[in-house]
Amino acid sequence: MTIKNTTQLIPDFRMPGNFKFGAGAHKNLVEDIKVYSPKKIAIVSDKGVAQAGLVDKLKEVLASAETPIFTFTDISGEPTFKLVENVANILREKNCDLVIGIGGGSALDVAKTAAALLLIEDKQPFLSGNQQIGSRKTPCILLPTTSGTGSEVTMNAIFGDEEQELKRGIVSPALLPDLAIVDPELTMSCPPRVSASSGVDAFTHAIESYISVRATPLTKIFAEKAMRLFPHYITRAVHNGSDLEARTGMGWVSALAGVSLANAGVGAVHALAYPLGGKYHIEHGVANALLMPYVFEKIGTTCTNEMVDVASFLQLGDFTQKPVKALEAVVQYLFDLLDVLDLPTNLKDLGIDESALSELANSAVKVERLLANTPFKLSEDSIKEIYINSYRGKVGARTK
Ligand SMILES: NC(=O)c1ccc[n+]([C@@H]2O[C@H](COP(=O)([O-])OP(=O)(O)OC[C@H]3O[C@@H](n4cnc5c(N)ncnc54)[C@H](O)[C@@H]3O)[C@@H](O)[C@H]2O)c1
Repeated sequence: MTIKNTTQLIPDFRMPGNFKFGAGAHKNLVEDIKVYSPKKIAIVSDKGVAQAGLVDKLKEVLASAETPIFTFTDISGEPTFKLVENVANILREKNCDLVIGIGGGSALDVAKTAAALLLIEDKQPFLSGNQQIGSRKTPCILLPTTSGTGSEVTMNAIFGDEEQELKRGIVSPALLPDLAIVDPELTMSCPPRVSASSGVDAFTHAIESYISVRATPLTKIFAEKAMRLFPHYITRAVHNGSDLEARTGMGWVSALAGVSLANAGVGAVHALAYPLGGKYHIEHGVANALLMPYVFEKIGTTCTNEMVDVASFLQLGDFTQKPVKALEAVVQYLFDLLDVLDLPTNLKDLGIDESALSELANSAVKVERLLANTPFKLSEDSIKEIYINSYRGKVGARTK
C-alpha cells in the first residue's frame, strides 16, 4: 500500500457505541437493555422477518424483562421517507423510549432513523437532507437478519423519494446505534436470492470504499478483511442457508465492509443503482451486483494499484507486474459471481427499456455525494455508456 495523499486530514472514525458478535448473541438482550432502563420498548421490523418468526423469537427472549413492548412490522419492500416519518410519529405516540430494530437494511434503516427523529417535532428538514440530525435522545439497538447492508454499523439510511422517483441517503452519527448485535443465527432463514444480493452488496461496500478518495489506511483494513473473507463464504451461505460457519463468515464480511463504508463512503456503483431502485424498485443489492462489473470496467483504469490489491485479496493471482490484467481478472470474477449466485447480469432482463437509459443517466449524475468518492470523474455521457453496457450485457471483449 502506498500513502498517496500526505495532506489528507482524517475526520472522526465512527463505530456503533457497542458491538457484539456471535451465534446466539441475541439471547443476552435482557442484560443488554438494562443500561437503558426502558419503560416501553419498540420492536421495528418488516413483514418477511416477522413471518420468518424472528420477531417472536426476540419477544420470547425479552419476556423475562417484563417491559411492555410495542411491535411495528408494517414494512414491505424498501422503505420511503414518508414511511419512516410515520413510524417515528407512531413510536412517539406509543411512548416508546428504546427502539430495537431487527431485519435487513430496510427494517434497520427505518428503526434507527425513527429512533433519531422520535423526539423531533419538525422532521422535514432532516428528511429532505437540508439539515443533519444532531443527536439521538432515544436509545437504539440493531440486529441484522441479512448479511449485506451493514446498516447496523453505518451512519447512513437510505429511503425512496416517491415524488422524485429516486433513492436518497441521509447521513448522521445519530444513525449509529448504541449497540449492534450481529448474530449469524438470525440470518439462517434469509432466502437464497436475498442472501445473494445482500452478500454481493457487502462486497460492493468493501471494494467501493477501498478505492474511495476518502479511504484511509484504517478504513482499508476493514475493507481488505471483508474482501478476503467474502469468496470463502458467499456461495456456501447462498446455496446452503443453514451452514452456520458460512453465515458467520458473511456476518463478518457485512459488518467489516459496513465500517469501511461508514468512514470512507461508497461511489459510482451505488450512484448508478439509486435511480434503478427509485424508479424501477429493483432491490438495492441486485442493482449494485449487476452494475458492479460494468462500472469497474470503466473506472478501474484510474485505480490499477488497488485492482492489483483486490485481485490478490480474492486470490485471483499476483498482478504486480501487469496491473492492467488485474482489472480484467476482477471484472471477470464479478461476472462469474453473478452467474454462480443466479443474479441478473443485464438491465434488459430486469424489464428496463433501452429508451430509459438517458433519463437514468440524468438522475445518476445528480447523486454527487457518492460520485465524488469515486477516483474517476464520471460525466453524464460516461454514465450513460455504463448503463448501455449494462443493458446490452457487453463488457469489453465479453458479450453475454
Ligand atoms: N444504511 C445503510 O448503510 C445501507 C447500506 C446499503 C443498503 N441499505 C438499504 O437496505 C435495504 C436493503 O436491505 P437488505 O438487502 O438487507 O434487504 P431487505 O431488508 O429489504 O430484506 C429483503 C427481504 O428479505 C427478507 N428477510 C430479511 N432477512 C430475513 C431472514 N433472516 N429470514 C427471512 N426473510 C428475511 C425481508 O423480509 C425482505 O422481504 C435497501 O433499502 C437499501 O437501500 C442501507
